[in-house]
Amino acid sequence: MNKVDLRHSAPVVSNTRICTDHYRLVLQEDRLASATLPGQFVNIRVHNREDLILRRPFSVALVKPEQSLFEIVYRVVGKGTSAMTDLQPDDVVNLLGPLGKGFRIPKKATNCLLLGGGCGVAPLWGVADKLYRTNSKMIVVLGFQSSAMVFGEDKFQAYGADTLITTDDGSYGLKGFVSEHLGKAMDRQIDRAYVCGPTPMIKAVTPILKQANVACEISLEAYMGCGFGVCLSCVVSVRNGEAIEKQRVCVEGPVFRLEDIVLDHET
Ligand SMILES: Cc1cc2nc3c(=O)[nH]c(=O)nc-3n(C[C@H](O)[C@H](O)[C@H](O)COP(=O)(O)OP(=O)(O)OC[C@H]3O[C@@H](n4cnc5c(N)ncnc54)[C@H](O)[C@@H]3O)c2cc1C
Ligand code: FES
Repeated sequence: MNKVDLRHSAPVVSNTRICTDHYRLVLQEDRLASATLPGQFVNIRVHNREDLILRRPFSVALVKPEQSLFEIVYRVVGKGTSAMTDLQPDDVVNLLGPLGKGFRIPKKATNCLLLGGGCGVAPLWGVADKLYRTNSKMIVVLGFQSSAMVFGEDKFQAYGADTLITTDDGSYGLKGFVSEHLGKAMDRQIDRAYVCGPTPMIKAVTPILKQANVACEISLEAYMGCGFGVCLSCVVSVRNGEAIEKQRVCVEGPVFRLEDIVLDHET
C-alpha cells in the first residue's frame, strides 16, 4: 500500500481578525481541501520562527473542495499564534495533515446538537456544513467569555441551525456557561451531539449528555509534540470495553465517543 504524504505547502488566501483574539486563516491546498473530515486537524510549522521547533496543531474549521480551500480559526495565545497573525496572502504555510480521526456524520437526516466553546466553535462549522447536506435539523449552543470574543454565529444560521449564544458575563446572548443553558436544547428531540471546546466545558456538559443518553462525540485537546503518534505526549485515558487504556489524542482522537472518555476524576 502506498504511504500517503501528509506534508503540504499551502499558500495563504486570507488571514483576518474575526473577534478580539481570533483569526480566520484561509489556505489553498487541493488534497487537504478534498480529504479532510470535520474534526481532523493540521500541524503547522510557524513561518520565519526557527526557534519554534514544534509544529502547532489546529482543527480544520471548514473545507471548500471545489475551490481547493480550507480554513482554520486560531486564538492568539503565545509565540506561535502571535507570529501567525503576520501571515499575508501568498505567504506559504508548511503543514502536515489531515491528522487524527474526525467526527462521524450520519448519511441520513438526523436531529443534532452542536456544542462549542471558544476556538472549539470553528471545527463545528465543518460538522454543520456536512449535516446541512443531509437535511439534518441542528440546534447549536455556543459559549464565549464576552461579546468581544463572539464569532461564527452567522455561519451556523446560514446552515439553518437554531443558534443559542451564551457569554460568561452576559454581554451577549444568555448569561452563563453553555452547561447552564443546555436544558433549553435538550427539551428537543436530539439523536446525536457533537462537542468541541475547552476542558472545563467538556467536564460540565458530559454528565448532562450522558443522562440524556444521546449518541455523542467529543473533540479533546492535549499538549502535542509530534502530532502523528510517536512522542506519546498527548495520551489520555480511554475506555475499551471493561479496560481503561491510554490512547493518543493525535492518532486515536482527537474525536472520541462520549462513553469512552475518562475524565481526570474518574481514573
Ligand atoms: C487537536 C488540537 C486542535 C486544536 N485546534 C485549535 C484551533 O482550532 N484553534 C486554536 O486556536 N487552537 C487550537 N488548538 C490549540 C493550539 O494548538 C494552541 O493554542 C497553540 O499550539 C498555541 O501555540 P502558541 O505558540 O501560540 O502558544 P505557546 O507559546 O506554545 O503557549 C502559550 C499558551 O498556550 C497554551 N497552549 C499551548 N498549546 C496548547 C494546547 N494544545 N492546548 C491548550 N493550550 C495550549 C500554553 O499552555 C500557554 O499558556 C488545538 C490543539 C489541539 C491539540
Ligand atoms: S503528539 Fe506525539 S504522540 Fe501525539
